[in-house]
Amino acid sequence: MAESDVTAVGARVWLINGSEDDWLPAVVDQCDGVEVVYRTDYGEERRMWISEIDAGVVRLMNDTLSEGMDDMAKMAELNQASILCNLNTRYGKNSIYTYIGSILISLNPYKRLPALYSEETLHSYTNKDLGEEPPHVFAIANECYTCMWKREESQCVLISGESGAGKTEATKFILSYLSTVSQQSMGKEETIPAKGRSIEQSILESGPLLEALGNAKTVFNNNSSRFGKFVQLLFNHSGQIKGGRITDYLLEKHRVVRQNPGERNYHIFYQLLNGVPSKDKGKLFLTEAKDYHYLNQSGCVADPSLNDEEDWEAFEKALAVIGFKEGQRMDMRLVLAGILQLGNVAFANAGGAQVVDTDVIDRASQLLGIEAERLEAVMKERTMKLRGEFITSPQSIDQVNSVQWS
Ligand SMILES: Nc1ncnc2c1ncn2[C@@H]1O[C@H](COP(=O)(O)OP(=O)(O)O)[C@@H](O)[C@H]1O
Ligand SMILES: [Mg+2]
Repeated sequence: MAESDVTAVGARVWLINGSEDDWLPAVVDQCDGVEVVYRTDYGEERRMWISEIDAGVVRLMNDTLSEGMDDMAKMAELNQASILCNLNTRYGKNSIYTYIGSILISLNPYKRLPALYSEETLHSYTNKDLGEEPPHVFAIANECYTCMWKREESQCVLISGESGAGKTEATKFILSYLSTVSQQSMGKEETIPAKGRSIEQSILESGPLLEALGNAKTVFNNNSSRFGKFVQLLFNHSGQIKGGRITDYLLEKHRVVRQNPGERNYHIFYQLLNGVPSKDKGKLFLTEAKDYHYLNQSGCVADPSLNDEEDWEAFEKALAVIGFKEGQRMDMRLVLAGILQLGNVAFANAGGAQVVDTDVIDRASQLLGIEAERLEAVMKERTMKLRGEFITSPQSIDQVNSVQWS
């Protein structure tokens, strides 16, 4: 390699920084014949005397890497520095997906990219081999769908990454891809049921439902799923979805009663407060988020990127599509409003914990359909079974609070 290559203005180079993993991608910014100024991809400026430069300090970058490679398995140099550099180059061009062989790496764009998920884009991936089109989560979904035929075996997509990386979004894109191809494969004699409630629709609508009840704003992600899930889709021999099963794991239950500063409770509570029409709020005793202990401890009740009112409508619509009747939907509202009241029950010490304001207990009891005296008793007393007999004893405020707030 000629030394002049790594000093030519505009050349892409590696600044060698100890081990291979610490190499810095850079471009030659200026060179006056004596000194060279390099600008790294991460915004740093490095100056070097030409007399100091040799292959142990600066190396010319492989041409393919300067353009950004869509399959990193084909890269000449594969190390942490070249992987990060390639992903960074592609990210700059809104190419958030990159392969390493058949593994897809997805970066969170933190902005909507509608063209990337348009119907047109989706169709461009059907009946294609992996690698024929630019890397995409649709290509992975398509690969699963076709491999199911080719191999006559169940297929599985494993999506992993840290909180906020884009796993939930990727899952939704895969489900919407599979739902579209499933509907396309529908024979002429089979049509969508008259009421418009197909299995595909139910599976897609399960998204807003699970997110309302199981997602919350955290400091890392304003729509963080606080549970793990395993989604199973069952296909028939003509390629249509015939059933689905969603198993959830490890829901973070204590979020209902306590949240860290800057975080929120589950979306559903704020959606309920913002979405229920004013005329119906009275019978649910709904006021504002700041009035409820279970919502006001963290100092955060809203997020500019979340529209609780619209999301409430999506939640109600999803329930209807999945088949919940108005009576059942009302029961859910009552339970949710009842939980909010339970958080507001305050106790004072008077020979054991006593309820301060029995109106709160009355409201909770009406919403939950439990007699007020019984509700009050279970909140302030403890019942134990001792030698076959039930013994009830009063509790201290600390004991009561630890049950109510944990
Ligand atoms: N492909 C994408 N396009 C646009 N925005 C995205 C994409 N992936 C993630 N996001 C944004 O990042 C946020 C967090 O992503 P999410 O899928 O909830 O992360 P995770 O499930 O990995 O914790 C989303 O609410 C969305 O705003
Ligand atoms: Mg998630």
